[in-house]
Amino acid sequence: MNTQDYRMSRRVFVGSLAAALAAAWIAPAGLRAADKAALRKTIPGTAETLAVIGLGTSQTFDIGSDKAALSGLTEVLQAFFSNGGELIDSSPMYGTAEMVLGELLNRIVRRDRLFAATKVWTDGRQAGIRQMEDSLQKWSINRFDLMQIHNLRDWQTHLKTLRAWKDDGKIRYIGITTSHGRYHRELEQILRNESLDFVQLSYNIEVRTAEERLLPLAADRGIAVLVNRPFQRGEIFRKVKGKALPDWAAECDCASWGQFFLKFIVSHPEVTCVIPATSKVHHLQDNMAAGFGHMPDTAMRKRMADYFEAL
Ligand SMILES: NC(=O)c1ccc[n+]([C@@H]2O[C@H](COP(=O)([O-])OP(=O)(O)OC[C@H]3O[C@@H](n4cnc5c(N)ncnc54)[C@H](OP(=O)(O)O)[C@@H]3O)[C@@H](O)[C@H]2O)c1
Repeated sequence: MNTQDYRMSRRVFVGSLAAALAAAWIAPAGLRAADKAALRKTIPGTAETLAVIGLGTSQTFDIGSDKAALSGLTEVLQAFFSNGGELIDSSPMYGTAEMVLGELLNRIVRRDRLFAATKVWTDGRQAGIRQMEDSLQKWSINRFDLMQIHNLRDWQTHLKTLRAWKDDGKIRYIGITTSHGRYHRELEQILRNESLDFVQLSYNIEVRTAEERLLPLAADRGIAVLVNRPFQRGEIFRKVKGKALPDWAAECDCASWGQFFLKFIVSHPEVTCVIPATSKVHHLQDNMAAGFGHMPDTAMRKRMADYFEAL
């Protein structure tokens, strides 16, 4: 795509901005004052904490130069930062997503802390370096906080480069990703044998395989965990369509199914951050609210999982 074609016009931007400013977060009703601070988790082996609700960009940010969609995503991004969001996850695999993100990051009003996470997804050392440099340009930032090897692709090659980049201060953390249960055996070997800061995997109330080996292993190895596909790409909402939340969901401040699903994930002790994707500001608000209020304890997590399974 021609970058020139891609620039958002000032008129569109100003319109988006007005809408974005109207999208400030309203605390979920009934929250006690003490619960109004968002939950944060520590990155293992560091003193650094992260807000538990991040943002994914697969498909939702791959919108090319569609002006209406750009305007909508400006609101989404503005609301994300206004609600204390920090970690944004992308990849060169997601079409125009990184370029769109860079465009919008330059235009939003308030950008407190961005924790920038992307991936390398190619074969070969030089191609990997070129791709990561290209991603920096697209995001318009000087440094990624987290660089992940996407779906284990040519991981031995890229790991060497990432280690050198980390030593040089060009990235802060190194990670590796998978999704939907793919490559779990190989991933397990890598987590056991290599030194990594982050692992990204799929985990949600419907597909809980990661609980068996990967999450305990990440804990043993002191590796932070990012969770992708928290809603099974949205499929999970079909199962609860037309069904009311159980009354007891209010005990952990869940006001929607989205919050129920996200709180189930972030209350797992080994999960550091979850990265739901959305193109809609009201879904973004809903998702960010899951970082606030009471979190489910072990007994409540079991109750939630059992309830969902019985639906
Ligand atoms: N191998 C990898 O590295 C890998 C693989 C998969 C994903 N990821 C990362 O993980 C992120 C999340 O996964 P995903 O995008 O596959 O799927 P997801 O986050 O599980 O689901 C996204 C879908 O959920 C809908 N949604 C979001 N919030 C909602 C809410 N509150 N209520 C109702 N619907 C809601 C969105 O639709 P609307 O737009 O209508 O809100 C969207 O269709 C990706 O964007 C990507 O950054 C990485």
